[in-house]
Amino acid sequence: MKKWWHGKVAYQIYPKSFYDTNGDGIGDLQGIIAKLDYLKELGINLIWISPIYKSPFVDQGYDISDYYGIAPEFGTMEDFDELLAEAKKRGIQIVMDLVVNHCSDQHEWFQKALADPEGEYADYFYFREGKDGNPPSNYRSYFGGSCWEPVPGTNKYYFHAFAKEQPDLNWENPKLKQEIYNMINWWLERGVAGFRIDAIINIKKDVSFPNLEPDGPDGLAGYHRAVEQTHGVGSLLEDLKNNTFAKHDAFTVGEVFNMHEEELPEFIGEDGHFSTIFDFSAHCLSEGEHGWYDAPGITFEEWRDAIVNSQLEVQEIGFKANIIENHDEPRGVSRFLPEYARNAAGTKMLGTVSVLLRGVPFLYQGQEIGMQNCEWGGSEEWDDISTKDQYQTARNAGVPEEEAFKACAEMSRDNARTPMQWSGGENAGFTKGTPWMKVNPNYSEINVESQQGDADSVLHYYQELIALRKSEEYKEVFTYGWFAPVYGDQEKIMAFYRYLDGEAKKPEKRVLVAANFGEGPMELPLEYKVKETLLSNLPQNHVGERLVLEGCGVMVLECME
Ligand code: GLC
Ligand code: CA
Repeated sequence: MKKWWHGKVAYQIYPKSFYDTNGDGIGDLQGIIAKLDYLKELGINLIWISPIYKSPFVDQGYDISDYYGIAPEFGTMEDFDELLAEAKKRGIQIVMDLVVNHCSDQHEWFQKALADPEGEYADYFYFREGKDGNPPSNYRSYFGGSCWEPVPGTNKYYFHAFAKEQPDLNWENPKLKQEIYNMINWWLERGVAGFRIDAIINIKKDVSFPNLEPDGPDGLAGYHRAVEQTHGVGSLLEDLKNNTFAKHDAFTVGEVFNMHEEELPEFIGEDGHFSTIFDFSAHCLSEGEHGWYDAPGITFEEWRDAIVNSQLEVQEIGFKANIIENHDEPRGVSRFLPEYARNAAGTKMLGTVSVLLRGVPFLYQGQEIGMQNCEWGGSEEWDDISTKDQYQTARNAGVPEEEAFKACAEMSRDNARTPMQWSGGENAGFTKGTPWMKVNPNYSEINVESQQGDADSVLHYYQELIALRKSEEYKEVFTYGWFAPVYGDQEKIMAFYRYLDGEAKKPEKRVLVAANFGEGPMELPLEYKVKETLLSNLPQNHVGERLVLEGCGVMVLECME
């Protein structure tokens, strides 16, 4: 069945680093409003904003202290309503970040729980007695250290899957659930189109909290291992959906790791828990056994296979949300492209492949101008809680300083969190004050302003690419068309068809997307005659009897039947 959000092109804003209008060095809601025309011109019609709720910002807003309030750093509720209205005028809908696996330790609920550890608010969280002077179980939190933190003045501990300032909410408690549902409905009634749902798989706990086989020198076991062994998140998610999103026909995109594979239809099928979930299959390739320091490199073939398999697996079921990067990942250009391709041509090539996959494309701020990982001068430049932990983890494992630094510099979430590069002017035009986070020194070469004035720029290319995907003539094939990989036996070629079945299995429309990730040119035999070139990133690419792609070349071709 067709849904209103099919065919949308989404854009993630990391508000702290997007655009600052009042000179305090922090991006704000007025900054987003100021750039709505820019986003409209890019072709965006759905914006996901990372959390803007009140927060102590221990984990940059993913630690919420008031779900009903806008963080003063970002502005006011009036600013938010203005943003909704201004976006609507431009045909853009707003999706909020929903962080309900945990809140902030500064949230009123948690403060009340601490004040009365036997009272009703303690049951909004997981308060448990220790075992023989130890925490209730041996889980390691995602940000390092035990998942259990002592509750002062008691023999109890509280559970946190992430930082100790992010206590997990008890989804077994109907009262807590009702509070969350009310809050979600309140935002939906205000006019948000839906939610990106943070870390949601973690809400289902095995509340017996069994110890697991330790997997590191600290004697702890990564909490994700407990998640993998836990079943039954589905009924929680159904209840959540039926009490909130479904009533408003809202769009939801889940951040789901460690899902049991066979559950994909339950998650994003016709009546799934969510509209869609992100495809992290390429990102998971660099998961280290113990952390970033032993993260394996990614080969082109692994990357291609991951995406192809994920596309094939999902297409009879639903839609995934396709990304190159987000605020938790290094920049895709620096990660998935070989060094010789980290230029405008390679950036356009990677973008073409991602945006024309089957699913909902999500661009991350700066991707459209080809922003890259930052050149880090030292570990003191990092802000991110996870990067700091990963560095320590590496050092504790005996990794030499330089190597630990290098591994974290490559994988740091801060790579995606440096300020948006609007111009070649001071602070990349992001702020007139002192930016809260280092500006990537390459802003004089990579920035919006210079690309706006260059017809051949990455930015203009992205505009064309998105316009093609959304065009009257091709939106059907790019939204609903099947995905079929091709040239899988050719080295360094990532290519696929998107096609629509016509009558009697005759394709009604067939588009070939072919990218040459190699350094030199490649010639490919054509299976179909070409009707029209829809997009090409390099003048040397050409098509005749055969398809010739320059190194880092990509072409989008409409085939004849
Ligand atoms: C998600 C967010 C990440 C955050 C974590 C804890 O993974 O994307 O930024 O640190 O959840 O809320
Ligand atoms: Ca500001």
